[in-house]
Amino acid sequence: MLNGKIIVLGVSGGIAAYKAVELLRLLTKAGADVHVIMTRAAQEFVTPLTFQTLSRNPVHTDLFELMAQGDIGHISLADRADLFVIAPATANIIGKLACGIADDMLTTTAMATRGTVLLAPAMNVNMYGNAIYQENEERLRRHGYLFVNPVKGDLACGWEGEGKLQTPEIIFQEVLKALTPSDLVGERLLVTAGPTREEIDPVRYLSNHSSGKMGYAIARAAWRRGAQVTLVSGPTALPMPWGVTFVPVESAGEMYDAVMALVGECSVVIKAAAVADYRPVVRAGEKLKKRGDAMTLELVKNRDILRELGKEKGSRLLVGFAAETTELLSNARKKLAEKNVDLLVANDVTEAGAGFSVETNIVHLLYRDGRVEAPGILSKEAVANLILNRVAALRSEQEG
Ligand code: PMT
Repeated sequence: MLNGKIIVLGVSGGIAAYKAVELLRLLTKAGADVHVIMTRAAQEFVTPLTFQTLSRNPVHTDLFELMAQGDIGHISLADRADLFVIAPATANIIGKLACGIADDMLTTTAMATRGTVLLAPAMNVNMYGNAIYQENEERLRRHGYLFVNPVKGDLACGWEGEGKLQTPEIIFQEVLKALTPSDLVGERLLVTAGPTREEIDPVRYLSNHSSGKMGYAIARAAWRRGAQVTLVSGPTALPMPWGVTFVPVESAGEMYDAVMALVGECSVVIKAAAVADYRPVVRAGEKLKKRGDAMTLELVKNRDILRELGKEKGSRLLVGFAAETTELLSNARKKLAEKNVDLLVANDVTEAGAGFSVETNIVHLLYRDGRVEAPGILSKEAVANLILNRVAALRSEQEG
């Protein structure tokens, strides 16, 4: 994910400095080459050796030491960094950056960088609320610095409130976003994912094997690329993606209602959910008792959400999926036409490495002009980005 990226991780002196160790682990695990700079105060909380061991790079602490070696360290690091992250960023560091003060290795390198700087503040709640701090943050935001807001919680100083460093996982997500070109800014995406559950009685339901992985990958990728994303999801075991408006639903009927309520505000809809085509005619109020050797369950058709969306599409881009087990392309072509979508993503869910639950997918992309793309097996993350690339291209064609 971050292979080939050089990230400078600045650590300033707060109790949350230990969380920077976990952030470093996430960054290196994703393939980034991380160079850590610690302030003097940060070294009171965590030793440079911890960061050096995990980053496999020397940790920079002293501006003059590196200069003595003939390497103008702050300039070379500033020049090479794809991204500069400071986590935790104290009120002191933010104040210095806002005022253009460069008096140590961290502030000097940050001032010299021409790339993006992402700050994750952590401090006492009253410091965070202080008007001077807020003005400093506002000033840095105006100059293009990015922030990962702190969260509410019990603070080390004994107070409770806003000022706690955001979790390393979420800072990591913001790092991915900061490193991704924002080519979907202005698009409002509605993504559906996961299975639906059609209740038979209070303990049983009809459903399918969808894990939600495909739809969640699309939602995450679109958020990173700058879109505003709403994810309508059936029940899954996946964590809610960060940055996305999450709308949980159970049944196809609930998904229909949620999608119809939201679609008016959306410029793109991507329907990756595996929606039940039928539901029981009657949902029993009590657990059905065992009777006889066989039983018949009468089903009634659910409304087809995608088909409904296709009826009044306007300039909205509509992407459908087709989960097939035979005659992939001819079935998919029928769905493309009948549901009036701009792009249809077809997968044969019986193929190894494709479809339900797995981390990869093998898709065919079908267009209205008859073109078919077959990119072969890809991670669901890569499939998500491919679909979004095609959405961006369709939008350009539409505008062009
Ligand atoms: O969730 P994963 O485990 O990652 O698995 C991914 C996936 C296999 C679920 C995904 O790649 C996929 O194929 N999703 C579509 C599943 C499906 O319901 O296909 P379908 O061919 O039955 O439906 C065609 C399209 O109509 C789909 O976009 C579906 O969302 C939509 N539909 C179907 C029925 C219905 N009542 N309303 C709908 O909107």
